Amino acid sequence: MIAPCPSGEGHETRLRGWLEAIPTPAYVADIAKIKRNLATAARIKRETGCRILLATKAFAMPVLFPLMRETLDGTTSSGLFEARMEREEFDKEIHTYIPAYKEEEFAQIVELADCVYFNSASQVERYIDRVKAKGKRAGLRINPGFSNSTVGGDLYNPCAPCSRFGELPAQFHRIPWDKIDILHVHTLCDSLHDGSVKLIQHVAENFAEQVGKVKAVNFGGGHYFNHPDYDVDAFIAAIRNFRAIFPHVEIYFEPGGALVYDAGYLVATVLDFHFNAKPLAILDTSANNHMPIVLQAHYRQPLQGAGKPGEFPHTYVLGGNMCMTGDVIGEYSFPKPLKVGDRLVFEDMIQYSFVQNNTFNGVPLPDLFVLHEDGTVQRASAFGYEDFRSRLGFPA
Ligand SMILES: Cc1ncc(COP(=O)(O)O)c(C=O)c1O
Repeated sequence: MIAPCPSGEGHETRLRGWLEAIPTPAYVADIAKIKRNLATAARIKRETGCRILLATKAFAMPVLFPLMRETLDGTTSSGLFEARMEREEFDKEIHTYIPAYKEEEFAQIVELADCVYFNSASQVERYIDRVKAKGKRAGLRINPGFSNSTVGGDLYNPCAPCSRFGELPAQFHRIPWDKIDILHVHTLCDSLHDGSVKLIQHVAENFAEQVGKVKAVNFGGGHYFNHPDYDVDAFIAAIRNFRAIFPHVEIYFEPGGALVYDAGYLVATVLDFHFNAKPLAILDTSANNHMPIVLQAHYRQPLQGAGKPGEFPHTYVLGGNMCMTGDVIGEYSFPKPLKVGDRLVFEDMIQYSFVQNNTFNGVPLPDLFVLHEDGTVQRASAFGYEDFRSRLGFPA
C-alpha cells in the first residue's frame, strides 16, 4: 500500500485527467511501472538469494518507500543526511559509503548505518575500530580495474585514470582483512548484462583471495536490469555461478537507476516561441535545473508523441526558461505545430532528476506527484518560495 501523503495544503489532492490539471513543471512517479521494476528485483532475489538495496542518491521519494520496502532489503546512502532520511523513512538495512568521512559526522553515521564502507586503507586505519566497537559491519571499496561504463565519458567511470574511488590492490597489504566483512565493487553505470556478468567474473578471477576473506560482496549499482535489452537470465546465471565458487559469501547489489528506470515523467508547458536559424520553443522547465543528466551526459530524454529532428513535420529546439544559452533540452519534431500552453511529457524522468534539482535563476522546484494504478494523481510535495528563500541564508 502507498502511504498517505503527509497532511498539509494541497497534499491530499487527487486528480483525474491529471495531465492537464497538475501545475507544471512536475515530476510524476508511475506506480505501475515502479511495481514492474520491483518485480524484476524480486525475481533476481528469489532466484539467486542475493540482497538488493536502493541507492537513494538516484531516487528518494519517501511516499513510495512503503511500497519499495516490501521487496527491497534496504537502502544505501552517500552521506549523513541520506543515512538519516533512510533510517527515518525506509528503516531497513542501511549501508553507507562516503569517499572520506568527516570526524564530526562519523559517530552519527555508525549509529545510523548497519554497514560502513571505506574507500581507502587510510580511512580504514582511521575509523574501522569505531565501527567494530559498535558491532556494525565494515566494508572496503576496491578499485578492481574493470568497468564497461561508457555513459558520459569518464564522468561516471570509477575506474577512470586517477579515479579516487576504491582502494587499489597495491595497498591491500595495509588492510586488516579479519575486520572487513564486505568487499564493495561499484564500477558500472547503466550497464547491460554483459557489464554485470563481466564484472562478476572479473572479481571471481582476480580477487578470489580477498573474497575468501570476507562474508559478503557488494557488486554496487549500475546493473540496469529493467532495461529492455538487459538479459536478466544471464545476470542470474552469473550470480549463481559466483555463489557456487564462493558458497560462504552473501551477495549484495545497490542499484538506483534500475529500480526506477522508465518509471515516471517530467511534465512541462510550452511558454513561448522564438526563431534564430531554427524554430525554438521555451518551456517552463530547465535542463540545468530539472534534467541535469541531459547536460552532464548528453542524454536525450524520450518525449511522448515526439520524434527525432525531421521525423515529423514540425521540429523545435526545446530550451529552458533561464539564463544559460546552453540550457537546451534537445531538438524534437512533432506531428502538429506546438502551441502556447501545450503539455510536454518527458519520459524516464524520475531517476537522478529531482534529487539533483536546484533553484538557479529563482526557478521553482517542480512538485512531485504519484500516478496511482487507478489513474489518479496524488501530490507528494508542495514546494514554493520558502524552499527557494531558505537556501539563501538569513537576512542581515
Ligand atoms: C557507490 C554507488 N553505489 C550505487 C550507485 C547507484 O548506481 P545506479 O543508479 O547506476 O544503479 C552509485 C551511483 O553513482 C554509486 O556511486
